[in-house]
Amino acid sequence: MEALLRLRLLPLALFISLLLSLLSQSSSQELQIVNAERRIDLTSHIIKVYLTLKVENVGTSPASEVNLAFSPAEVEHLAIVKAAVTTGKKKKKTYVPLDVKSTELPVAPNGTKYFTIILINPLSKGETTTLEVLYILTRSLEPFPVEISQSESQLVYFRDSAILLSPYHVKQQTTFIKTPSTRVESFTVVEPTKRVGTEIKYGPYDNQPPHSYAPILVHFENNNPFAVVEELEREIEISHWGNLQVTERYSLAHAGARHKGVFSRVEYQTRPGSTGVSSLKYLLARLPPRVHSVYYRDEIGNISSSRLRTDFLKSELVIEPRYPLFGGWRSTFVIGYGVPVEDFLFESPDGSRYLNFTFGCPLADTVVDRLLVKVVLPEGSKDPKAVVPFTVEQGLETKYSYLDVVGRTVVVLEKRNAVPEHNIPFQVHYSFNPIFMLAEPLMLVSAFFLFFVTAITYLHLDLSIRK
Ligand SMILES: *[C@@H]1O[C@H](CO)[C@@H](O)[C@H](O)[C@H]1NC(C)=O
Ligand SMILES: *[C@@H]1O[C@H](CO)[C@@H](O)[C@H](O)[C@H]1NC(C)=O
Ligand SMILES: *[C@@H]1O[C@H](CO)[C@@H](O)[C@H](O)[C@H]1NC(C)=O
Repeated sequence: MEALLRLRLLPLALFISLLLSLLSQSSSQELQIVNAERRIDLTSHIIKVYLTLKVENVGTSPASEVNLAFSPAEVEHLAIVKAAVTTGKKKKKTYVPLDVKSTELPVAPNGTKYFTIILINPLSKGETTTLEVLYILTRSLEPFPVEISQSESQLVYFRDSAILLSPYHVKQQTTFIKTPSTRVESFTVVEPTKRVGTEIKYGPYDNQPPHSYAPILVHFENNNPFAVVEELEREIEISHWGNLQVTERYSLAHAGARHKGVFSRVEYQTRPGSTGVSSLKYLLARLPPRVHSVYYRDEIGNISSSRLRTDFLKSELVIEPRYPLFGGWRSTFVIGYGVPVEDFLFESPDGSRYLNFTFGCPLADTVVDRLLVKVVLPEGSKDPKAVVPFTVEQGLETKYSYLDVVGRTVVVLEKRNAVPEHNIPFQVHYSFNPIFMLAEPLMLVSAFFLFFVTAITYLHLDLSIRK
């Protein structure tokens, strides 16, 4: 009955959406996609979608914007959208990054959300250009079954559309879905559909009108540990006395299929290849080169079972938690290290100073639900200004530590849904009066002086009593 109703309503809905899209197009430029190729990488729990669009201006006026459409579910889990224009032929292909911003369009069927790519050179009538888009989705694989035992594989659902959701007419398109292994339980067929090895190919589909959609469901094996840091607080403390102290507080969860039954360490250790395949056994943290005094501790205390490899370009810390993390399990821990301040603190031409450090989470293959980056400036710093290449929430706090007189200004940057692509440099500029450099030593000197006076008095007292 419901299906019948939908069948009857469908042509009407299609007609309305067509009419609306025609209306919206006549008010802006007219574009069409000559060819679209989409590659969806499902090998991790962080989904990467590479989209190549050959766009043609079929209107009369030049176009400087190209819109991308996303379903409401996708937008909720969208971590990043990047675009570049390719120029030159195959061998000398170069990529020029383009600005992408979220936009509201007057007509948005089914709550579709849009992102706009701003072209550097407007596309004139009849011209075509090729755009490369990368977007990343987090928390978009749904474990099914939702609970698995230690010896079972993790299976997940992925939902999308076989046809690219686009506000434009798409002349030809193909979608490739890459799975981590050849174990695919099921997938929706939208002819022509073909599966070979670890790849499912949807299409080619010809002449799809704007906002076409064909839901698909892929059920497949994904034994990646779904490492999600629910909250990460990174505190970066600048001392002009030579050290940059970084303290990172993690609360990590395995967001994959929940663990069922009891955990058997014996079974886990004797049959490592076939039990706990989707558990999180170790973590890899990429730290800056020249780190020193690295430590890693959890609620119980310091954990020494971590290995640090350093070279000129990077340091890698391999962390082995006390127990493997299964689906639904959580762990909180702290990583701390120091780096030479001269590697990250610079002077601008106007005499102010700035920190140039990496944003994001140092753990490989990890999603961060809520990331807080706190830059603790030296005492007496003024006019802090953060420069981050993507949108973040910014705030200021004051921190008091020992030897502080007026407290330190803390620049707080908050980003939700961070992925490894957010591990890029950011800067915090501030001005500093060198007179404040004397504050700490003066405090130290007076503290030592007081200490010695006390000590001497005490010793004198002690001696006099003994005699
Ligand atoms: C719009 O929603 C209807 C009902 O949920 C669905 O059948 C249709 O495929 C959706 N279309 C798009 C473009 O998302
Ligand atoms: C842990 O190790 C760090 C660095 O080695 C050290 O500073 C800290 O005091 C240690 N903490 C405990 C509780 O042992
Ligand atoms: C920040 O550091 C990166 C490399 O670590 C460098 O490429 C970039 O130019 C630096 N930015 C500034 C503003 O100094």
